[in-house]
Amino acid sequence: RVFRQTALATVSVVAIATSATADEALREEALDMFSPVPSTIPAMTDNPITPAKIDLGKALFFDPRMSASGVFSCNSCHNLATGGDDNMPTSIGHGWQKGPRNSPTVLNAVFNEAQFWDGRAEDLKAQAKGPVQAGVEMANTPDNVIATLNSMPQYVDWFKASFPEEADPVTFDNFAKAIEAYEATLTTPAPFDAFLNGDDAALDEAQKEGLAIFLDKGCASCHNGVNLGGNGYFPFGLIEKPGADVLPPDDRGRFQVTETADDSYVFRAAPLRNIALTAPYFHSGKVWDLEVAVAIMGTSQLGTELNEEEIDSIVAFLGALTGEVPEVSYPVLPAETSGTPRPTG
Ligand code: HEM
Ligand code: HEM
Repeated sequence: RVFRQTALATVSVVAIATSATADEALREEALDMFSPVPSTIPAMTDNPITPAKIDLGKALFFDPRMSASGVFSCNSCHNLATGGDDNMPTSIGHGWQKGPRNSPTVLNAVFNEAQFWDGRAEDLKAQAKGPVQAGVEMANTPDNVIATLNSMPQYVDWFKASFPEEADPVTFDNFAKAIEAYEATLTTPAPFDAFLNGDDAALDEAQKEGLAIFLDKGCASCHNGVNLGGNGYFPFGLIEKPGADVLPPDDRGRFQVTETADDSYVFRAAPLRNIALTAPYFHSGKVWDLEVAVAIMGTSQLGTELNEEEIDSIVAFLGALTGEVPEVSYPVLPAETSGTPRPTG
């Protein structure tokens, strides 16, 4: 009996050792392709981040008066309570107009090498100037934004505190820099990061299986780095074009940016953090089920028909990318004055 117990104990120690080794091997393979979310706020080019600037950027992010109508804030389409997006196929903006593309999450956007589905903005401060002026989004002008901000003494003080070196800090550039500083704080460490950082128990067996499949099938050749995407461009339909319902013919992606024929229907490999929260999927926003989106990726990008089990495992793994959203308290914004431009449209 003593012998049998020892033998059993040895067997289970071996089993634990084997699974620990398997976890270590999986982690090593994963670390070749991915990096965990850093535990500090990433540094921005030409935009030192300070607490005052983060607070200002947060106020601007939530302020609907940055839109011509006074209705739309960044948070309208990038709702921080619902995954940093608007959960609609394509966004509704100024005058109830429907935009052409799905709203991506702002969570972890700081880790994307370029912004937008076609990567046309090089960073978050370049990006932030876009929606304010887009006719289908906030339909405003830089001059009107500056007039609006200057009409509220509290905003002027906040800009002075955020850009103390500058004599006249209320500028459209600084508006964008403050928003960038705030967005840099919107990072969401997830169970996957804990696994990458050494915690074997952070993923369950199905998630580990899914991670192994994600690596083996080649998903990670396009979806890699900190954001599992956001850092490279590929034809959507590399092997086989999805149907026109998923890939509408009139949106040719990066072609609109580079005007190079090779860039027709090329899009940025979408970042996959918090993907379970951000249905519907693809730039067209036409696919509501993550299982279906994964199956489409298999056929369109890899030429592989993934079976149900593989899809379920991958979806389980993608669930491990759902992170902890920083707690957001709703900001109290400066009150408008008699000089504040009136809403239009
Ligand atoms: C894209 C931030 C206002 C809809 C983005 C991205 C960021 C962002 C960071 C790129 C994310 C990525 O590429 O992964 C902001 C900020 C706003 C703002 C800071 C306020 C100044 C809005 C509004 C709407 C909207 C009001 C809806 C009416 C979209 C859409 C895209 C996008 C549809 C994708 C566009 C494309 O790829 O062509 N936004 N956003 N955004 N945002 Fe916003
Ligand atoms: C988009 C997963 C393989 C390039 C997506 C999306 C998911 C996904 C869920 C939708 C993201 C969103 O709507 O926010 C996967 C999985 C793969 C895989 C599980 C392996 C089975 C690949 C490969 C490539 C690639 C190999 C490159 C050749 C892209 C691109 C998009 C995308 C360009 C954006 C498509 C668009 O414009 O809407 N992927 N992917 N993916 N993926 Fe993959």
